[in-house]
Amino acid sequence: MDIKIRPVNTLTDLRKCHEIQRTTWGFTDLMVFPYTQLISSAHNGGVLLGSYDGPELVGFVYGYLGMSGAKLYLFSQRMGVLPSYQSMGIGMKLKLAQRDQMLRKGIDLIVWTYDPLLGKNATLNIEKLGGIVRHYARDIYGAVNNPLQVGLSTDRFLLEWELMNDRVRERIRSTKPRPRAEEWLKENKFSFVNYAAWEGNLPRPMAMDLEMDDDVVLVQNPPDLNAIKKVDLSIARGWRESTRDIFETYFRRGYVITGFARSTEPQMPNIYKMEKIEHPTTSDFSSWVTGIKP
Ligand SMILES: CC(C)(COP(=O)(O)OP(=O)(O)OC[C@H]1O[C@@H](n2cnc3c(N)ncnc32)[C@H](O)[C@@H]1OP(=O)(O)O)[C@@H](O)C(=O)NCCC(=O)NCCS
Repeated sequence: MDIKIRPVNTLTDLRKCHEIQRTTWGFTDLMVFPYTQLISSAHNGGVLLGSYDGPELVGFVYGYLGMSGAKLYLFSQRMGVLPSYQSMGIGMKLKLAQRDQMLRKGIDLIVWTYDPLLGKNATLNIEKLGGIVRHYARDIYGAVNNPLQVGLSTDRFLLEWELMNDRVRERIRSTKPRPRAEEWLKENKFSFVNYAAWEGNLPRPMAMDLEMDDDVVLVQNPPDLNAIKKVDLSIARGWRESTRDIFETYFRRGYVITGFARSTEPQMPNIYKMEKIEHPTTSDFSSWVTGIKP
């Protein structure tokens, strides 16, 4: 499939961005970003790029400028690819085009949030793009009722994508196979902070250790949160609560998310890698962490 990335700038395609938001997330009109806002941001230093299958818009990425101290960055607010086009590398293409556009403007940082329990997003953000995470934000939008997010608090990772750092350049050019959870489980090199107990294909969050001091620790996650939500929302909530404790604790203690391995077999978790590393930065995103007041 020959997918091309280009700016979204016709009225028809701008309106199609509404449809993509409704289809991809199941958003109500209140949650859909209107095209007037998308195009205004694009004219004012932001980015609005579409992925096209021939003449058809099948996904888009939208972001606007942010500022932390004197540092300008792009906040990438929304990216959506139509469900039938997902997991084909289109998200990656959109992000790489967004990166090119920002570098041409002299901006070397893109930031966005995502639900840590969504494996597809984690593979793309951490492994394919080389982003890192140091901040966990609790319930940033409060309760929302679109089908993709309903029933769980809107906790998010704040993803920092430093466009010119070695790690990012290495990941985006890499042709190496991505890590698999199976390998990390078998090689037994790093210790796990937590474990899942499996009932058939349903993982329940079990014991966790919040006091480990190893240089690298691994965190188990459910391989398919949406499948769990359909069967038993309380188990999905259990994962939200236990991983919130884990990530908040280890971020506070200086760990950074630097890797992710996808589950490849039944009864196998997705796995995040957290490393205790110095990560100097000039940006301050701590305001996210306090979340939204009811
Ligand atoms: C998140 C999203 C934009 C990514 O776009 P995409 O085109 O699917 O992304 P890519 O194909 O480039 O990368 C996805 C990767 O996740 C992998 N993946 C798929 N299911 C997975 C799972 N359950 N666990 C882990 N990884 C998974 C894919 O195989 C692919 O990796 P690969 O290239 O090694 O095969 C798209 O899936 C989407 O629109 N999702 C719904 C809306 C959303 O969450 N938007 C982002 C937040 S605003």
